[in-house]
Amino acid sequence: MNRNFISSACKFLSLVFVFAFLSFTSNAQDISTEPAAISAGEALFNANCKACHRVKTQLVGPALQDVYNRAPSIDWIKSFVKNSSGVIASGDDYANKLYNQYNKTQMTAFSSFKDEDIMNILAYVKAETEKKEDAKKVPTPTPGQSDGGGVSSTYLNVILGGMLLILVLLLVILGFLVSALKRFLDQKELSEEDKEIVNSPITFGSVTRSSGFIFIVVFLCGSLGFKAVINGLYSVGVQQGYAPKQPIAFSHKIHAGQMEIDCKYCHVGVMKGKSATIPSVNICMNCHNQIKAGTQTGEGEIAKITAAWENKKPIEWVRIHNLPDLAYFNHSQHVNVAGVECQTCHGPIETMDVVRQHSLLTMGWCIDCHRKTDVNTKGNAYYDKLVELHNKSKKTPMKVEDEGGLECSKCHY
Ligand code: HEC
Ligand code: HEC
Ligand code: HEC
Ligand code: HEC
Ligand code: HEC
Ligand code: HEC
Repeated sequence: MNRNFISSACKFLSLVFVFAFLSFTSNAQDISTEPAAISAGEALFNANCKACHRVKTQLVGPALQDVYNRAPSIDWIKSFVKNSSGVIASGDDYANKLYNQYNKTQMTAFSSFKDEDIMNILAYVKAETEKKEDAKKVPTPTPGQSDGGGVSSTYLNVILGGMLLILVLLLVILGFLVSALKRFLDQKELSEEDKEIVNSPITFGSVTRSSGFIFIVVFLCGSLGFKAVINGLYSVGVQQGYAPKQPIAFSHKIHAGQMEIDCKYCHVGVMKGKSATIPSVNICMNCHNQIKAGTQTGEGEIAKITAAWENKKPIEWVRIHNLPDLAYFNHSQHVNVAGVECQTCHGPIETMDVVRQHSLLTMGWCIDCHRKTDVNTKGNAYYDKLVELHNKSKKTPMKVEDEGGLECSKCHY
């Protein structure tokens, strides 16, 4: 009797456990762990949600990690993403709490999304939630572009140092020769006149007046001057390192680095046209109508954005990169067609609180890269004929140089 009771109690308890376990995990269990679903979800997330959501940190909307356990159900998530204002209007308790908590910010309605799209996004969110923190990749600056932009000064200093050493050695040897000659002459019979010359002390005055000394001084001064002139010539018009103070303390380190906002979200021209464009106040206001204070500068800097927006006055950013009018440079050609990373030319912008010019931006800099870089011809039918022609004459991969990248008229109007 007692035994029976215990065993049925055990059965009952284990059933309860199984149920609890199932109901706890059931939301998450429907979510795929297939790599294909995860990468499809990542693309959708980056294109549609990233402006407001991150997986692990709160941005304009909540951090999405664990949302599949927190939200009422997967179906709820589907309807909320497709039409959040509908769900809120229906009086749904969870949705209304959230909406109020986020200062009644309207989430975009994704009415064209299929259930499958949303499941893929959740697959990505789940994979990211469970992923361990990877070490952040930091792009290394291209070698040879980060020095001061003149003739390497260590090189010239070594040469000058070497010349001084030789000079000192010569003086020592001359000193030995003079004293040896004196001893030799002392043993000889000399006329009075000759004796006077031999015994006259070597004075400072006589040394500085000697033609050898003057020659050496002129030579040293000359080479120092020459070095200065060469350095000057190399850096004519070069603004490398230029980092002016901006009217608002906007930080790429915070926005592009910590928050990982895509460069193209703000620099919208980069894929389409010549100019990358500086974002208008509207783009800032997408987020800053909610976010009124930063951790570094408090409210002052962000208040300037709101003021500019309310007065309909553009923010007067100071231009940093600037080619002379005689040269033509096109962003979409390099970023979109050639697939060159922003950082190759602009350096690690996502680590900079204040943007500075990373590359020389001289003609030599452009041409150097056109000599070295292979043209990205993959998946671009336009290049098929060119590559065919190229491969007939040369064995190396086609460089920008080979498609006319060194012709004056390509870069000069
Ligand atoms: C314009 C900004 C914005 C965009 C874009 C956006 N969301 Fe939201 N999202 C919000 C805000 C704000 C909330 C908080 C609820 C509210 O205010 O409506 C939210 C809430 C949510 C919630 C509920 C979170 C919770 O804690 O329960 C989910 C799920 C969600 N969003 C998914 C998405 C997905 C998926 C996308 C992309 C397809 C997306 N959101 C795009 C702003 C946005
Ligand atoms: C949130 C918007 C935003 C994002 C994201 C952003 N930028 Fe900017 N960027 C700006 C603003 C505003 C300026 C002008 C103020 C300044 O120079 O800091 C600017 C200036 C620049 C400049 C200098 C322009 C000049 O005057 O010559 C470069 C280069 C640049 N950004 C590159 C990047 C790259 C590369 C990324 C991605 C890693 C990026 N930006 C991401 C807003 C943004
Ligand atoms: C091949 C080198 C190269 C690449 C790659 C490149 N840039 Fe530039 N960028 C330049 C040069 C050169 C200028 C100066 C253009 C001028 O003065 O006409 C410039 C200027 C800019 C400016 C100032 C405003 C403007 O449009 O002239 C911004 C902002 C900018 N770049 C952002 C970006 C972003 C964001 C990316 C990546 C998506 C990028 N750049 C990729 C070379 C490059
Ligand atoms: C996608 C959302 C988003 C966009 C777009 C955006 N910001 Fe921000 N910004 C933020 C968030 C979030 C913070 C708070 C970060 C922090 O300080 O921790 C912030 C902080 C700031 C700060 C204060 C930094 C500090 O720490 O004190 C300034 C200034 C700022 N943003 C300027 C701008 C300007 C100018 C633009 C437009 C070119 C812009 N932001 C666009 C999200 C955004
Ligand atoms: C980081 C390497 C790099 C730098 C630096 C660079 N370019 Fe280019 N450039 C390329 C590549 C790669 C292409 C090939 C694009 C394509 O597939 O058509 C290209 C193509 C071009 C073309 C088109 C050539 C043609 O035959 O159609 C022009 C014009 C051009 N670049 C101008 C410039 C100017 C001006 C500068 C300097 C301000 C510059 N580039 C700096 C890599 C670079
Ligand atoms: C890949 C692009 C490119 C090609 C090809 C090119 N240039 Fe240039 N050139 C530039 C850029 C960029 C500048 C501006 C450099 C600066 O401001 O320091 C420039 C500047 C110049 C200048 C003015 C120098 C000065 O000090 O102001 C002259 C002259 C010139 N180029 C002549 C030529 C001739 C001749 C050719 C053909 C043999 C040629 N360029 C081919 C990009 C190019």
